[in-house]
Amino acid sequence: AFNLRNRSFLKELDFTPEEFRYLIKLAADLKAAKYAGTERQRLRGKNIALIFEKTSTRTRCAFEVGALDQGAHVTYLDPSGSQMGHKESVKDTARVLGRMYDGIEFRGRKQAHVEELAAHSGVPVWNGLTDEWHPTQMLADMLTMTEHSDKPLHQISYAYLGDARNNMGNSLLVTGAMFGMDVRLVAPRSLWPDEVAVVKPARELAETTGARITVTEDVAEGVRGVDFLYTDVWVSMGEPKEVWAERIELLMPYQVNTALVAATGNPAVKFMHCLPAFHNRETAVGDELFVKTGHEALEVTEEVFESPRSIVFDQAENRLHTIKAVMVATLGG
Ligand code: CP
Ligand code: NVA
Repeated sequence: AFNLRNRSFLKELDFTPEEFRYLIKLAADLKAAKYAGTERQRLRGKNIALIFEKTSTRTRCAFEVGALDQGAHVTYLDPSGSQMGHKESVKDTARVLGRMYDGIEFRGRKQAHVEELAAHSGVPVWNGLTDEWHPTQMLADMLTMTEHSDKPLHQISYAYLGDARNNMGNSLLVTGAMFGMDVRLVAPRSLWPDEVAVVKPARELAETTGARITVTEDVAEGVRGVDFLYTDVWVSMGEPKEVWAERIELLMPYQVNTALVAATGNPAVKFMHCLPAFHNRETAVGDELFVKTGHEALEVTEEVFESPRSIVFDQAENRLHTIKAVMVATLGG
């Protein structure tokens, strides 16, 4: 029904809701086939390049395992392992890799770079996260919400708390708008998404899909009645360390803790996080910071993170099935 062959996957707004829905359905089918041991390989003989300008656990592993499950080969180019951006332009890199590979994944800072790779490589390019968007994460999150709800997507509500000006805030807003959902960004005004690049297109989409869009500083109002609470790290990859102190100050009222869960009024509310989480004192990397600030937790408390309402590892697993679906749909025979 949907032919996405040779298409790139650069940002949510490039796709119609029907196309996005098709990718989620394909992911669910691939997941079921893998569990049943009936997966059919549709990427045999394909070569895939994975460029990581920023680090990754889930995205990299999902691309590698997804490709291998489907019979493709991968080359991993680590954050310092290619010439791109240092000694060679993105455009030249695109033209070289396009001669050798059938598909290219890129994770890095600039959305313009992933767009440029797509424009000049001649092969499908997949966005594994930029400063602006995290579209493969959206496929996994929508699949996960569907699996944990009796309702169709357009009846689901979620609140994203914390840094709503990052890739996750942007992507969650436009994706919710696309599917006609009740989507709320709950964050201090200084961390709301860009009005022109993000909020406006989301509102325009909402007019056609029936989505309800809320961007608010009011925590109690923002989380009332939601099906899912979602948060992310308060300082993203590529941001300077110095931002932490100010962010902690600003975002502590938006921490996902037991009181905030209670404020939803929904005893069945689920907790989501794209991960990696920077959540507690045991997280070695955060130790110095916690000692300095005296806080026990940052974006989410241990109590919520480890509770049965937390579905973060289902989300992580679904990165595999959804990323595989993107590769199969755009490259598969
Ligand atoms: N959620 C996510 O993209 O995780 P990684 O940074 O580990 O890939
Ligand atoms: N906002 C986070 C998401 C990580 C998956 C970051 O960009 O670091």
